[in-house]
Order: sequence, then structure tokens, then C-alpha cells
Amino acid sequence: MENKKKKFNLLLKQVKMIVNGKSGRDEKLKVICQLLKDNIDYYDWVGFYIADISKRILFLGPYVGEPTEHKRIPFGKGICGQAAERKETFVIQDVTKQTNYLSCSPKVKSEVVVPIFKNGEIVGQIDIDSHSISPFTKDDYQFLKAICRNLSVLF
Ligand code: SME
Repeated sequence: MENKKKKFNLLLKQVKMIVNGKSGRDEKLKVICQLLKDNIDYYDWVGFYIADISKRILFLGPYVGEPTEHKRIPFGKGICGQAAERKETFVIQDVTKQTNYLSCSPKVKSEVVVPIFKNGEIVGQIDIDSHSISPFTKDDYQFLKAICRNLSVLF
């Protein structure tokens, strides 16, 4: 458990360095996706959705993992759309128990979605899919929330 916290602290430092780098936003987001997927074995798909609040639609941004057909998600639809509508983090330990869920692959068993805020408005979100059931702990979503707070400056 302590090891996991140490790993998350180290990864968070790396994320901050990436955020402060010179490349553009989407390039930074892609590098962060790869960093998380490479270092956390149960993060099987890591990606970002970018919010258009006037249209109330999420657009697929940079990601690492299998291609997904969910390139545009209206607010309210699926886990991502509900997280955007309610401006809340969603931790789904077993996606088979969800009715409002958009499946990307039958391999996916669980999912976490954390909104990114700027000036109180949602500007995007990070989405993690896992092929394991119930892999996420409080450490994961605290870690992901800390990442999202740091990403706010990119929007
Ligand atoms: N499962 C998500 C859709 C996005 S994919 O996980 C990449 C949802 O229910 O909103």
C-alpha cells in the first residue's frame, strides 16, 4: 500500500514536469496517458475527453489503448457523460452493474472518470478503463484528482 502511494507521488511529480514543458496541450496529455498506462498495470486504457460546455458534448482527446468508437459523448450519456453533467468523479468497480454505460470493449471491467475544472466549469476529464474488477482504491482517485487539478492550467 505504501509502495503504491510512493509510486503515485513519483508519477504526480512527473506529471507536473510534463505540464510545465514546452509542447502543446494535446502532446502533453498524450505523454501523460502513456506514463500512466506504462506504470500502473491495471490501467488498460487511459484517455482524455475535452468538454464543449455550450454544446454539452465531450470530444475524445489524446488516449493510449484500444481505439474506441465513443468519439463524441453527450453530457448525461455513459459514465463520462454523467460525470460531466454532475461535475463529479465516478468510480465504477464493475461496469456490468451499470445501466447508463457505453462499452468500448468487452474486456473492460471497471472505470474511473475524474473531471478537470477551470474556474468552476468542467473543461475535460480523464478516463481510465481497467480489465480487472474492483482494482481502484481511494489512492487511485486521490491521485487522479491531483493530476486533474494540475492539468487545469492547460485549458
Ligand atoms: N465507458 C465510457 C465511454 C468511454 S470509453 O470508456 C473510452 C462511458 O460509459 O462513458
